[in-house]
Amino acid sequence: MGHAPVQDSVEQAMTTHAGLAAWVAEIAGLTQPENIHWVDGSAAEYAALTGELVDAGTLTRLNPELFPNSFAAFSDPKDVARVEGRTFICSEKERDAGFTNNWMDPAEMKAILKDRFAGSMRGRTMYVIPFVMGPLDAEDPKFGVEITDSAYVVASMRIMARIGADVLHKIEQTNAFFVPALHSVGAPLEPGQADVAWPCSDEKWIVHFPEERSIFSYGSGYGGNALLGKKCFALRIASVMARDEGWLAEHMLILKLTSPENKSYHVAAAFPSACGKTNLALLDPTVPGWKAETLGDDINWMRFGKEGELRAVNPEAGLFGVAPGTGWSTNPNAMAAIAKGNSIFTNVALTDDGGVWWEGMTDQVPAHLTDWQGSSWTPGSGRPAAHPNSRFCTPIAQVDMLSQEYFSPEGVEINAILFGGRRKTTIPLVTQARDWTHGIFLGSTLSSETTAAATGAVGVVRRDPMAMLPFIGYDAGDYLKHWIELSADANPDRLPKIFLVNWFRRTSSGGFAWPGFGENSRVLKWAIERIEGKAGAVETPIGFVPAEGSLDLDGLEVSPSDLADALKVDAGEWDAELAGIDEWYARFGDSLPAEMAAELEGLKQRFAA
Ligand code: PEP
Ligand code: NA
Ligand code: MN
Repeated sequence: MGHAPVQDSVEQAMTTHAGLAAWVAEIAGLTQPENIHWVDGSAAEYAALTGELVDAGTLTRLNPELFPNSFAAFSDPKDVARVEGRTFICSEKERDAGFTNNWMDPAEMKAILKDRFAGSMRGRTMYVIPFVMGPLDAEDPKFGVEITDSAYVVASMRIMARIGADVLHKIEQTNAFFVPALHSVGAPLEPGQADVAWPCSDEKWIVHFPEERSIFSYGSGYGGNALLGKKCFALRIASVMARDEGWLAEHMLILKLTSPENKSYHVAAAFPSACGKTNLALLDPTVPGWKAETLGDDINWMRFGKEGELRAVNPEAGLFGVAPGTGWSTNPNAMAAIAKGNSIFTNVALTDDGGVWWEGMTDQVPAHLTDWQGSSWTPGSGRPAAHPNSRFCTPIAQVDMLSQEYFSPEGVEINAILFGGRRKTTIPLVTQARDWTHGIFLGSTLSSETTAAATGAVGVVRRDPMAMLPFIGYDAGDYLKHWIELSADANPDRLPKIFLVNWFRRTSSGGFAWPGFGENSRVLKWAIERIEGKAGAVETPIGFVPAEGSLDLDGLEVSPSDLADALKVDAGEWDAELAGIDEWYARFGDSLPAEMAAELEGLKQRFAA
């Protein structure tokens, strides 16, 4: 049964914003779509689009008794993650992209893109999605317009961002600047050619022009490659805007914690992709009397307020969480949000009763599934049922523990910043920075074992400054300098305290030294009690670690030897680490801020003393 395609007139300009009308006409001329549809963001439109995607075989409608108004998508097996090797920052000067980014001359890149996008939407509908990152009633709302030939992208963007008619009206009324974000799956259809369920191209280009604040994405339909409001705008382009305008666009969750004394604090925490950000963002504290509420799980825009306090907002409207490892025992808050429906799953497995499953969702593994590639699966199959980077895409408003302050355009005051990675060795459970600049040093040297969130090897230690390695839209040394200089706007008494954490350290026998998940609330409690001046700490060469008895371990079953392994600062391990940091800092060349070089020198001297 076919649905009438969602479409508007090609001829009629659908906006009074001259710049937008001109850009849409230009892109339509270049990409030659069959139809143009201006996305209004309505529920009726979503129903029609998802209906078309079901007919096309892109989406499978889930059993509404299990997952109401929810769908599963299965991508091309070659299009399952962000492609960092195909991601470019095309600043005018190569120097301004820095060593952490791929760079190409903007004119050269524009010529390539023009060629790839020419006719790339033939036989398809071109969707125009007006969106805003952050609240529409913000003082200076950050608008974007994504043009895409993927209805899956439209449906996903509706969950992840504020999109549609209201946003367009505000862009028009205020004659606002918007970030033009062009996306094509790069799979034009010749007349009569049958479509495939997940069109994409073998050749992928994820390209940013930081000076003109524009985005071009070609060839992939997947997540961070295609939902351009997320990583491309809210991190890469926004980090450049933030540098120029005096704020910070960071890869951080935002969590509100309230103590038994009814005092509230907000914590921002940066972790690389697939290192438990969503779990920490939706944490159920195990320490009695503490309450957690969430504001965001992935992206955090921060600026210093009028009183010199650091204020944070989450620019997103949904969760795009890694599914495997998200379960009723590990993250019941995410599971409850997902169970309310209105979600799109990508590359998860299907249960025989029309639901979804992934590794770690339930303790009991289903006896039979259809795996993410459509094959029959049993626990003996010897391969994961869901792709390791499979995702759930769910409205954040469905999270029961969502803080009402999420909706406030003024955001919340951040009291603590956590930087964390996935390290088997060396990095203790928690270390408090000596001061703000030392905290930036800890962030700048953050390291983590790679995960399935990006294509390439898994489990290799790489440096990931502030967990922003794939997302800094400009020179990494300039980025650190921006962090350092921005604190001139701060009230020194209200500067957040900075902590380095590692939930993933192993014992000598190979197991995790720390239980993680809800028990991480014990570490958060210690951090807040440090802010309150209550918890004891021991000074080590790398910073302050919990003093004996200062970490609340009441009711926790962790052996003293595991705990010692979790907390230790091992001089031998740090010998190797210092060499690793030397190598890392050498890569910055002369763009490494002198303050960071001095911090490294100080660290070496403290170890030598
Ligand atoms: C993605 O990979 O598509 C994505 C949105 O980002 P992350 O890997 O940080 O979750
Ligand atoms: Na480079
Ligand atoms: Mn992320």
